[in-house]
Amino acid sequence: MAMLEIKKLELNYGVIKALKGIDMEVNQGEIVTLIGANGAGKSSTLKAISGIEKISGGEILFNGEELSKMNAQDIVKVGVSQVPEGRRIFAGMSVLENLEMGAYLRKDAEEIKESLELVYKHFPILKDRSKQNAATLSGGEQQMLAMGRALMSKPKLLLLDEPSMGLAPILVKSIFSIISDIKEQGTTVLLVEQNARMALSIADRAYVMETGKIVLSGNGKELMDSEEIQKAYLGG
Ligand SMILES: Nc1ncnc2c1ncn2[C@@H]1O[C@H](COP(=O)(O)OP(=O)(O)OP(=O)(O)O)[C@@H](O)[C@H]1O
Ligand SMILES: [Mg+2]
Repeated sequence: MAMLEIKKLELNYGVIKALKGIDMEVNQGEIVTLIGANGAGKSSTLKAISGIEKISGGEILFNGEELSKMNAQDIVKVGVSQVPEGRRIFAGMSVLENLEMGAYLRKDAEEIKESLELVYKHFPILKDRSKQNAATLSGGEQQMLAMGRALMSKPKLLLLDEPSMGLAPILVKSIFSIISDIKEQGTTVLLVEQNARMALSIADRAYVMETGKIVLSGNGKELMDSEEIQKAYLGG
C-alpha cells in the first residue's frame, strides 16, 4: 500500500473546478514531484492533502487513514506537514521561535531538540540567525526557515510548494540538494515545482498536471527525456 493514495480527488472553488478527479500515489521514501503550468491545480492538490481546503469529492488516504475527514491540526499530528507557497514565516518572532512553533504539537523536549539539531544541520545559517527577527531574513533564508519549521513537526510526509520560487540559481541548487538530504534522512517528499528540470532531476517519480487533471506520469528521468515534457516545460 502506498503511503499516500489519492483517488478521484475533486476540489471546487465555488463554480471553479480546480481539481477534476486526480489519481496519484506517493510511496514511503520517495520524492514525487508535481509539475504543470500556472493555474493547473498544483497548490490546490497540496492544500487538499494538508486540509487547508475542503475537497469536493474523492479520497485522500494517508497510511490508510482518510485525511479529508480530519482537521488541519490532526493532519499534522498524523505526520503530514506543508510548506506553503510564498513561505509565510511568523514575522514578529525570532528564527528560533519560528522553528519552535513547528513543534507545537510535540511533547518530548529531547526529541524536539534532536529535530532542531537536524534542522540546523540542513540549514546552518538558521543557527547563526537563531535570535534574529525572522522578518529580517533574506528571501532565501525565509524559504529555509519555512522548510525548517515544517521539519520541526518531524513529518513522515513533507509537502513543498515551489521551494525554489524567487531564489538565486546558486540557492536553487542548494535547496534541491537539501530536499534530497531530507529524503535520505527518511522523510518522504511531495514537491510542487515550476522548475521542472531541477524537480525531475531529484524526483523518483513525477506527475504532470494540466487544468485540474493529471495528464502524464512516470519515472523522473524518463519524463525528463520525453519529447512532450521537453517541449512544454523544459524549453527543448
Ligand atoms: N481560493 C480560490 N478561489 C477561487 N479560485 C481559486 C482559489 N485558489 C485557486 N483557485 C483557482 O484554481 C485553479 C488552480 O489554482 P492553483 O493555485 O492550485 O494552481 P497552481 O498549479 O498552484 O498554479 P501556480 O503555478 O500559479 O501556483 C486556478 O485556476 C485558480 O485561479
Ligand atoms: Mg501554486
